[in-house]
Amino acid sequence: MPAIVIVGAQWGDEGKGKATDALGAHVDYVVKFNGGNNAGHTVVVGGEKYALHLLPSGILTPDVVPVIGNGVVIDLKVLFGEIDALTARGIDCSRLLVSANAHLIPGYNRTLDRVTERFLGKRRIGTTGRGIGPTYADKMNRIGLRVQDLLDEHILQQKVEGALDQKNHLLVKVYNRRAISVEETVEDLMSYAERMRPMIADTAKVLVDALDGGRTVLFEAGQATQLDVDHGNYPFVTSSNATSGGACTGSGVPPTRIDTVVAVAKAYATRVGEGPFPTELFDADGERLRRVGGEFGTTTGRPRRCGWYDAPVVRYATRINGLTDLVLTKLDVLTGVEQLPVCVAYDVDGVRQEDIPLTQSDFHHAKPVYEYFDGWTEDLAGIRSFEDLPKNAQRYVLALEEMAGVRISA
Ligand code: IMO
Ligand code: MG
Repeated sequence: MPAIVIVGAQWGDEGKGKATDALGAHVDYVVKFNGGNNAGHTVVVGGEKYALHLLPSGILTPDVVPVIGNGVVIDLKVLFGEIDALTARGIDCSRLLVSANAHLIPGYNRTLDRVTERFLGKRRIGTTGRGIGPTYADKMNRIGLRVQDLLDEHILQQKVEGALDQKNHLLVKVYNRRAISVEETVEDLMSYAERMRPMIADTAKVLVDALDGGRTVLFEAGQATQLDVDHGNYPFVTSSNATSGGACTGSGVPPTRIDTVVAVAKAYATRVGEGPFPTELFDADGERLRRVGGEFGTTTGRPRRCGWYDAPVVRYATRINGLTDLVLTKLDVLTGVEQLPVCVAYDVDGVRQEDIPLTQSDFHHAKPVYEYFDGWTEDLAGIRSFEDLPKNAQRYVLALEEMAGVRISA
């Protein structure tokens, strides 16, 4: 399995870090290819808990080379904050490679992210406020700042000037904020330049060379299929491609080199931020999933919206990502629920639909059509194989597998 992509099947927080970690020992490179510090992975290694936002989880495995690909947006303060915190706990971060073409999140884009959300009022997206959206917008708009610009202060200065020329108008005239200074922005970014220098690399070449040499490369998506800017429930999405195609554009490794695409899905569903969520629960059942599942954001600490498993959403992930495998997480959270509802289709204004509706407003109106499965009461802690699961848990997993149209692997 030389090139493996791991993506989220639902709305994020499926436990992608755990799945990466499980594969970690057999992997030579772990690549983050999209998003930035809007992500949050909690990884437990040797009894120690680590919350990572920007660094690929491979950083924790000795001998793995962690790579930040061109598709990522980087907040330098967060990057070095994480590096320093890990270093203080004895983890060596010197192997990290960062693409020269990855984009930087300047302070003004963090400001703009928060200000625009406030301005949107009830039409807000519920972003993480980390400057992700404005930075990807700048990239597409060709006024973005890249990692390589840190190697040439003159160019960086010109680019910051160009960007702030536009943005200060917005900040001052539309949002009633004070203008941001070019000098302060450049100074802040340049303060990390010397530390960045040794990590900057042509990561696309490094990765293809590694694959040519028979090494195993793992691509780890941030966010998830339903949060993908093209294939998710736009506009309630993040601003990058979190699906398997993003692994190619976000790293420079071509599609013909990808062998395996694994999605991670929770045995129920959660979502942070705004947007459609047909199986969302507003009752004691939802409260229970949140409490037992510990469903609070790693990045923002927000309580996650919780609901039952949505089969059309995962089936969609199978198709869009070209999944070869599905990993199911947090089955143990469902222990003790007598009857387990699974959304098998939607009722959209009285019409049954098997798939995610074509339009945004139909998805907003979609009501789940549930099928019910008998629950189990046995504690699943310590169970490592499918055969050891209680019979009803086995039935639940097999039904989800059938509905997803892809094999569920442990
Ligand atoms: P991981 O990698 C869950 C959501 C935000 C918001 C929307 C846009 O931990 O699964 P953004 O700040 O990205 O512009 O916000 O996307 N979001 C996530 N939700 N898990 C994540 O990452 C997320 N990253 C962004 O809550 O609704
Ligand atoms: Mg998370």
